[in-house]
Amino acid sequence: MQLTNEKMKNLNVIKHPLIGQNLSIIRSQKTSCEEYRVATKKIAQILFYEATKTLPVIESFVETPFETVKEYKISEDIEIIISPILRAGLAFEDIALEFLPMAKIFHVGMYRHEETLRPVWYYNKLPLNFENPEKTYIFITDPMLATGGSLLDTIKLYTEKNIPQANIKPVCIICSPEGVKNIHSHFPDIEITVAALDRTLNEKGYILPGLGDAGDRFFGTL
Ligand code: PRP
Ligand code: URA
Repeated sequence: MQLTNEKMKNLNVIKHPLIGQNLSIIRSQKTSCEEYRVATKKIAQILFYEATKTLPVIESFVETPFETVKEYKISEDIEIIISPILRAGLAFEDIALEFLPMAKIFHVGMYRHEETLRPVWYYNKLPLNFENPEKTYIFITDPMLATGGSLLDTIKLYTEKNIPQANIKPVCIICSPEGVKNIHSHFPDIEITVAALDRTLNEKGYILPGLGDAGDRFFGTL
């Protein structure tokens, strides 16, 4: 069997043998916290590789030991922001910084209220303004996109500061159809990169088949 990415409108579901291998690990209820962390980071690497594909580049000329070669590199006049949604989004942070060591990190903190399923905010490290919103690119990281409430609130923080939708790039591991629909009903031009689009949500707002509570499994707080 050969895999190809499932590309729906602004939903890029990455199909890759290494994704499938590691998704199988993190989905399993038998997986230990240690194994869960290792597999999550492997998935995060591939997702970041994909999500950064559309960053603007410039030509550069490099002298090898033999001759000059034309190359391309990430534009120097753009600002790159990683915005992990606490807690579980922290799982992507070191991977994101390995790829993008020049990035700034703006954490946002919230947890989902057990009954209302609405995000309860406790932290926001965004600046008051962005100097050049058109040239600012935001990677929002959160492994689970369930009802979409947490991601939607986070996206709004950035669009309210005039960051264009096309520059906002959520990177998630598993999403629900309901969550994707929620985000795209407000922000149709935001492309979401994910490892899996699951079936649905249960009555408690958990993704099915999903993997359970991502934050608890990553941090060992089950
Ligand atoms: C989880 C997850 C997302 C949110 C997704 O966080 O990491 O942030 O739920 O749900 P939603 O799409 O319905 O908003 P949780 O509230 O468990 O907090 P935690 O990361 O601190 O464990
Ligand atoms: N948050 C999680 O960690 N898992 C889900 O399935 C839904 C929200």
